[in-house]
Formats: sequence, C-alpha cells, structure tokens
Amino acid sequence: MVEQKATNITWHEGEVTAEERQANLGQKGCTVWMTGLSGSGKSTVAVAFEQVLLQRGHHAYRLDGDNIRHGLNKNLGFSAEDRAENIRRIGEVTKLFADAGIISVTSFISPYAEDRDKVRALHAEAGIPFFEVYVHCPLEVAEERDPKGLYKKARAGEIKGFTGIDDPFDEPANAELVLSTHELSIEESVQKLLDILEANGIIKG
Ligand code: ADX
Repeated sequence: MVEQKATNITWHEGEVTAEERQANLGQKGCTVWMTGLSGSGKSTVAVAFEQVLLQRGHHAYRLDGDNIRHGLNKNLGFSAEDRAENIRRIGEVTKLFADAGIISVTSFISPYAEDRDKVRALHAEAGIPFFEVYVHCPLEVAEERDPKGLYKKARAGEIKGFTGIDDPFDEPANAELVLSTHELSIEESVQKLLDILEANGIIKG
C-alpha cells in the first residue's frame, strides 16, 4: 500500500452521480486494461479499438505506456518499484476516466500480477467495470517482431531488466479476455473487444 502522506484532507462530495454523467454521455464508462509483453500488440490493438469506438459514436480514450512515460510518468524507470508506481498511477487515472463516463483503454506491459490485481480491486471498490485483456503471443514471436529493436538490445546486454528476457512477466490467471495476436487479425481482436463490451452492457451492438 502507498502511504497516505497528506494530513488534514477531507473528501468533498459532488452533486452529480456517475449515473447522471452516463445519461448525458449515453454510455457507461469502463476500463479495458491491456497487459502483455512488449511487441505483443497491445498498442496496435488499442489504437484500432479506440478508432472503431470513436467511429461508432462512443467516447473512448487511450492511455499508452510509452506515451505516458513521456509526461505524467517521466520520472519513472523500469525497476520493480518504478513499474509498480507506473501501474498504480495509471490505475488511478484510468479509474477517473472511467468514472467520467469514458471507455478508457490502457496499454501497459503491467508485468506483475500483484500490481494489476490492485488496479482491479480499485475498480471493484468503486463499482466501475474493469476488463483485463491479456494480449498474448509467444516470446519468440514478440522477439521476431521487435518493432523498436529493444529485444535485440536486451539480448546484447545493452538493456538490463527487459521484460521477458531478464525481468519477469506474470501471465494473467483471471483475464476477462485473451487475444492471441499471432493467431488473430487486428480486426478480429477488435471485434472480440467490442463483443465483451456489448455482453457487459457497456455499448449496444
Ligand atoms: S511497465 O512494465 O511499467 O508496464 P510500460 O508499458 O510503461 O512498462 O512501458 C514499456 C515500454 O517501455 C516498452 O514497450 C518499451 O518500448 C519500453 N522499455 C524500455 N525499457 C524497458 C524494459 N526494461 N522493460 C520493458 N520495456 C521497456
């Protein structure tokens, strides 16, 4: 648990409910949490998913690991502690987006089950729908794709603590959806994501 540093702070309730926000927007907010190895296809699928949601008139927003590390989380590296803080902050941010009524789509490696489970619990406590999506492909496939040339560098010892090489990735045990990107097209993955939102009453078909 992160220590509560500030003292003398009081929660200030608003006058509008999540339901009222949802009614105005015509949709329910939720978090679609993509987890998986670097190169597994998280960002690619998230980009396509966000685009289709927007085209269909839904309000969606994407939070991407590499992008967020340019701003909000620019002071974090890749130690276990920093990765945990990265995920903790994004867990809080995506919860706020979802509470605001947005379909919030995150794409972070989020390699440690403990950190992902905390984000899940945070949403459960607030009654906000949370879908953990394991964007999966074998390490060999991710390594062959190597879109940023990082696996090559990690194998050469130029990057230390690279996920899947010399830093662990805990496979999700309870993901709501598994997308095997070496077997599915991007369109098929997007369709499965739309299906799960529809099945859970977030969007209408
Ligand atoms: S996480 O582990 O904290 O969830 P995050 O998704 O934010 O990671 O960032 C991962 C991205 O950072 C990768 O896609 C890759 O481009 C880059 N990266 C740089 N160094 C590492 C590393 N040591 N391990 C994993 N990804 C790294």
